[in-house]
Amino acid sequence: MAALTMAEAASKVMVALDKPDADAALRLASELQGTGCWMKVGMELFYAAGPSVVRELKARKFRVFLDLKMHDIPNTVRGGSRSLARLGVDLFNVHGAGGLAMMSAAVEGVQEAVTAGEAEHLPMIIAVTQLTSTSQSVLNEEIRISGQLEEAVVHYAKLARTAGLQGVVASPLEVEAIKLACGTDFVTVTPGIRPRGAALGDQSRVMTPYDAVKCGTDYLVIGRPITAADNPAEALNRIIKEMTES
Ligand code: C5P
Repeated sequence: MAALTMAEAASKVMVALDKPDADAALRLASELQGTGCWMKVGMELFYAAGPSVVRELKARKFRVFLDLKMHDIPNTVRGGSRSLARLGVDLFNVHGAGGLAMMSAAVEGVQEAVTAGEAEHLPMIIAVTQLTSTSQSVLNEEIRISGQLEEAVVHYAKLARTAGLQGVVASPLEVEAIKLACGTDFVTVTPGIRPRGAALGDQSRVMTPYDAVKCGTDYLVIGRPITAADNPAEALNRIIKEMTES
C-alpha cells in the first residue's frame, strides 16, 4: 500500500467531540478547522446540545459522524434514521445486536427521507459490532456471548452487510478479519486508537494510529489523545504525520 499524503490521512481521522455543551465543542472545532478531519458527535454532546450543534458543524464544512448507536425496534429505528438523514449527517450507526430487521429498517429510513425529498444525500450507516471497551471476559461472562470476541465481531459485520449497511465500528485489531469476511470495500471505523505512550483510559482493545493504517482501517476515531491535549491541533497533526509514515 502506498503511503498516505497528509490530506488523505487527515480525511481518515474522526475527532470524538465528547464535550458537555455546544460552546466547548465548537471551541474545539474552531481549533481543528481546516485540518480536513471529521467531527464525531456522540451522546454526551448530542443529548446536551441537540441537532443545532450538528447543523453548525455542517455549516462549518465538517463531515459529521453522529454516534448515537441506535438500538430499538425496527419501526423506531426506521423513523430515527429518517430524522438523521433529514438532519444531513454524513454517517451514523446502529447496534448490530439489534438484528437484521432492525438494521434493514435503518437503511429503509434513510431511503425514505431521500425519496421524499427531505434529505439531499444518503448518509452512510454502519453497525456497532462489540464496543472497544468490551474484553473477552466481559463478552463471555457478563454479556453471555460464548466464543471468541473476533467471531462475534465478524458475525455482526456479515449481518450488517446482509442488511445493506456500508460498514462497521470495530477495534482496529479486527479489521483484517472483517475485510476478509466482508470484502475490502466494507468500511471499518475504528475507535480504541492510542498513540504510543498515551493513556488507555477505559479502552481495552487498542492500536497505534500507525498500526491501524497498516491494518487497512478506513477511519480512525480518536478522542482523548486529541481533545484532552494542551494543544489539540498539534496533537492531531502529530497523529496525521504518524499515519503518513505507514
Ligand atoms: O477518547 P477515546 O479515543 O477513547 O474516544 C473513543 C470514542 O469512540 C468515544 O466517543 C466512544 O464513545 C467511541 N466508541 C468507542 N467504541 C465503539 C464505538 C464508539 O470507543 N465501539
